[in-house]
Formats: sequence, structure tokens, C-alpha cells
Amino acid sequence: MARVLLTRKLPGDGLGSLAGHELVGPEDDDRALSHEELCAHAGQVDGIVCLLTDRIDAEVLEAGKGRLQIVANVAVGYDNIDVAAANRLGIRVCNTPGVLDETTADTAFMLILAAARRASEAEAELREGRWQGFRIAHQLGRDVHGARLGLVGYGRIARAVARRAEGFSMTVTHHSRRDTGEAGFVADLDAMLPEVDILSLHVPGGDETHHLIDARRLSLLPRHAVLVNTARGPVVDEAALAGALHRGELFAAGLDVYEREPTVHPDLLTAPRTVLLPHIGSATWSTREAMANLALTAIAQHFDGQTPPNVVPPSSSTAE
Ligand code: GLV
Repeated sequence: MARVLLTRKLPGDGLGSLAGHELVGPEDDDRALSHEELCAHAGQVDGIVCLLTDRIDAEVLEAGKGRLQIVANVAVGYDNIDVAAANRLGIRVCNTPGVLDETTADTAFMLILAAARRASEAEAELREGRWQGFRIAHQLGRDVHGARLGLVGYGRIARAVARRAEGFSMTVTHHSRRDTGEAGFVADLDAMLPEVDILSLHVPGGDETHHLIDARRLSLLPRHAVLVNTARGPVVDEAALAGALHRGELFAAGLDVYEREPTVHPDLLTAPRTVLLPHIGSATWSTREAMANLALTAIAQHFDGQTPPNVVPPSSSTAE
């Protein structure tokens, strides 16, 4: 019997897959454990099921040395886990790929539409009693149908966004670190940026993509462009983005992720034509349950002597 820490209460009924194992977790169901608590628990459990808000760094993993065997992140991204340290210590890391692609692509498309059509500020005008009735040249946005969509990263979620874009008659290009050999591939990100109307980010977090979209790259986008980020906050330099929006150098932005969650850069909160969601990319009942079940099943498989299919490859430092 293994002892498994659940850092938070999970949706769904997947706990049954851990029948026979001892489960431990915070007494207050939805309280985040502090770093100190994570370290204290790590030494006393064989497995951890965690969320992307739990920083499983080298210190936590070291604290589990000798006992901790597996960490299953209930997220596809795992930039919250020091995978190199886990590999060094022989601790297996799992994530939840595949089950959230369509839901997250829905969110990306929701942001594309909402940002291009200025949904948040139009609704705020109505709710705040400022609406003066239909006006022919008021709250004008940009068309999404027929627009040129650039995807940065071309993993499963980006491809799901591309499928939706087909229905909107969009021209889709994609940039990725590796040549995909597929139609629409652009090797040079800088060359792609001036040629898109909408840019949607789908790269993993981590050092390699930190501020991939910085002030210089933002300046390569057309002034009428819309930027959408459902990937990881640090991929975009938030201060530079807010500055570009305030100065009218970029038409609009739709964001679901932030550099220092749950803090949002104050200049983004006041930026015009900006739609801000609180990291709800995969937040549907069925998808969150599927993610929880996948993580729990990985733990069960591991302690059953099997290799879960969703083990993060040892060479990865991030996820796509
Ligand atoms: C959510 O952001 C995830 O990585 O699953």
C-alpha cells in the first residue's frame, strides 16, 4: 500500500482507482499547501498528486528523497515541477496530455472572438449603464472570419485551434521549434509575425519560452493584430504587452494566463480592448474530471508496477 498526497480536492470520482492506498491531504479541502508543508509531506509519502499552482521544486523533491517515487501533475504543462531534479532523484513525473486539447482550444477561440470583437468592454458599457443604444460606428472590432491566424507552437492544442479556424475560413500558419513539414509551417517566427492578424500562443512554459513574445516581437505584429495567450503567462512580457495596448500599437489581447498568477499586471487591468480570464482554459466538468482521473490512474499504474502512458519524457524540461 502506498501513501499518496493529494495537494487539493479533485473533481470527479477517480479516487476509486487508488483504492487500497492511503490518501493524505490538507484538512481544509481547497487550501493550497505552503512550500514548507509540501516539503514536510514529501518525506512521508510515496506519491504526490498536485496542481500547477504547487511548486514542486528541487527542495520539495529532495525532501522526498528515498521515499517519494512519483509526482502526477493534474495539468498538461509541468513548468511548476523541476523535472531535471526529479530525474536525478529517480522520481517519475506524469502530466495529463490529450484530455484537455479540445476544451483549451475552445477557450483560445473564445478569446480570439471576444478580443477581436471587444466583447468585454462592450458588455462592461452595457452593465455600467453607459450604453446609449445602437450606433453605426461604435464598438467596432476586427473580423475573425477570413483573418490570418498565426499559431506559435503546433502541438495538440494548436492543431485543435487550427481545426476551428477552418470553419471560420481563416488562413492558418504555424511556427514551431521543429519543422513540422506541414502546410503553413514558418521557420522564422519574426517573419511570421508581420503576416498575421491574430496570434495565438501554444508553446510550453519554462526557460526556453520565457518572454518569447517580448517588446521587439510585439512591435513586429501589425497594429491591428490580436494576441491570445492560453499557454503560460511568462511566454509574454506582460509589461511590454500592456504598454503596446495602451499606446495603440496592438489592437487587442485575450489572456487566460499571467506571469505571476494570481497577480495580474496592473497595466493589463486598465489596458484597452483586453479580455482577461482567470486561467480557465480547461475548466469544464468533464475535462477537469478527465484530467484528475488521468493523474490518479497514473499513480495507480505506477504502484501496480506498470509504466503509465503519460510519463513526462526524461529529457523534457517543459511540455507542449
Ligand atoms: C493548464 O494550464 C494545464 O497545463 O493543464
